Amino acid sequence: SMKPKSTIVIFGATGDLAKRKLFPSIYKLYQKQKISEEFAVVGVARRPHTHESFRNYVKETIEEATKQELIDETFISHFYYHPFDVTNTDSYQQLKSLLEQLEEQYNIPGNRIFYLAMAPEFFGTISANLKAEGLTATNGWTRLVIEKPFGHNLQTAQKLNEEIRQAFSEKQIFRIDHYLGKEMVQNIEVIRFANAIFEPLWNNRFIANIQITSSETLGVEDRGRYYDHSGALRDMVQNHMLQMVALLAMEPPIKLTTDDIRSEKVKVLRALRPISHDEVDQYFVRGQYGRGFIRGKEVVGYREENNVDPNSNTETFVAGKLMIDNFRWAGVPFYIRTGKRMTEKSTKIVVQFKDVPMNLYYPTGETIHPNLLVIHIQPDEGITLHLNAKKSGESMKTTPIKLDYCNNCIDGINTPEAYEKLLYDCMRGDATNFTHWDEVASSWSFVDPISEVWENTKAVDFPNYEAGSMGPKAADQLLEKDGFHWWPIS
Ligand code: BG6
Repeated sequence: SMKPKSTIVIFGATGDLAKRKLFPSIYKLYQKQKISEEFAVVGVARRPHTHESFRNYVKETIEEATKQELIDETFISHFYYHPFDVTNTDSYQQLKSLLEQLEEQYNIPGNRIFYLAMAPEFFGTISANLKAEGLTATNGWTRLVIEKPFGHNLQTAQKLNEEIRQAFSEKQIFRIDHYLGKEMVQNIEVIRFANAIFEPLWNNRFIANIQITSSETLGVEDRGRYYDHSGALRDMVQNHMLQMVALLAMEPPIKLTTDDIRSEKVKVLRALRPISHDEVDQYFVRGQYGRGFIRGKEVVGYREENNVDPNSNTETFVAGKLMIDNFRWAGVPFYIRTGKRMTEKSTKIVVQFKDVPMNLYYPTGETIHPNLLVIHIQPDEGITLHLNAKKSGESMKTTPIKLDYCNNCIDGINTPEAYEKLLYDCMRGDATNFTHWDEVASSWSFVDPISEVWENTKAVDFPNYEAGSMGPKAADQLLEKDGFHWWPIS
């Protein structure tokens, strides 16, 4: 059959990502018969486990995630465990024998996915050892999947990239940005390039501005140690937000191939107007949440969270104005905002079109609302087009109306989770929805001056937004200066 046959080796198999996303995704692919019986999963971690106890653990995590009892014993029998020490070469040799044995047993033609679902400090060592100990030399293909953070800035990202490139070529490296696996993020390109009515308007002659909001209600939870050294700029903007900007702004690719799409995205990132140190305040706003209420429940401020410095200068909110200095977008601001402990969990894109040349309805006191195209990424998935129409019965009065398409309202349609799609893409060797090194590098180049300024200047007003709000006032002023405002996200 054409179903992918491979062994998935998960480093960090006892961690949070494997538990919440990877195991359930593999299970769904199996259930949907996208993978056949010719697969194996090897969990690798420091913790001692037998194959048996690991299988029980996997079973429990899948049952927890799917809220169903897992009856499929055959599925679970494909899981194996290898207790592991990152730096011990014997450990790699044992892993190698296990992989060879499983490939024989399941008739897998030497195809291996090495998925690093763990802290990035070991990415370099693991890749180097995989190569040195011969685990990457097979008759099939080998691929490396890595999670963010991909470096802390351009320099550290470069170093990390050089390390993994010693063992894997760019084509073998699959850098995860899970936003690229979201159904409606993938839909951006289709909405743009498969419709005659949008693309002709998709430029600075007809678009006034584009707004991207990705808000969360969660705080830092148990990730304080990581987050306090990262902040929202690195955690969300450098990757997810800039990826959405690239998809919204890119030129139509020549073809829908991985290389063609990626090279158009890179051009957008390279066209981002660089922000120098002394311009940061003009273009970007940072925020940190204080105490407040989320759905009626009182929550603590960021500085009171576990593993967070009580005087922390880390931002949990970012709003920014991005300019893309190319022919299509000159003069059109792209506003982005993202933060933790905001009013609701929502990711939305609003494309605001320019006003009609004159308002014929003005004498009757009617406001003409600008046309908006809203792309709902999550939790609801769909698009809404805001238009003006005649108020029925009343001559020459206008009223705003909405054309709605809901992608997940149809009963029974349960759009697959991002990780499920990305894992499947990786098995099939489709890297389109993974980030190329050039994209990572340009994103860091853009973000670095901003984080440098923020690290070196204490935010005296922190905390500057209440948990449960839409962020600091300055984020609203950022748009008001330009004569715009944030469109409500609900
Ligand atoms: C992750 C960030 O990449 O994305 C998290 O590290 C954030 O801090 C998450 O919560 C948001 O993803 P989603 O899919 O819930 O919007």
